[in-house]
Amino acid sequence: MVELTSSFELEFDALDQDHQKMVDQVNAIIKKIDAGNTDDCKALVADFVALSKRHFAREEALLVSVHYPDVEKHRKHHLDLNDKFDHMLEFAKMAPENDMACESLKKELVYFIMDDVITADLEFKDFLSQT
Ligand SMILES: [Fe+2]
Ligand SMILES: [Fe+2]
Repeated sequence: MVELTSSFELEFDALDQDHQKMVDQVNAIIKKIDAGNTDDCKALVADFVALSKRHFAREEALLVSVHYPDVEKHRKHHLDLNDKFDHMLEFAKMAPENDMACESLKKELVYFIMDDVITADLEFKDFLSQT
């Protein structure tokens, strides 16, 4: 399970709320897998991917609106995560018949949310605090 401690907060409500929703969704998926309930894994992961993409779009628009200088770099970072979405969706499809896929999916989701989403965003935390 993933828990968002205060050191992972951007102290910018709209984005922190999105991150919390994404963490909640990851935890819900992990909980289902651990309970052996993998039938709706595919739908839940598809929802998570859609939620993540909406968040990325919202975050990029916000960074543009505050004239964050490295917005293109961060947009590219988000775009590069499309491969990871493909992996997650693939693992989720296999999850009902494949324990290895379940384990890989859980790992992929946790690394994704902690490293690629939340830690990567800490780069602009100081900038946002000055806006
Ligand atoms: Fe974010
Ligand atoms: Fe981001």
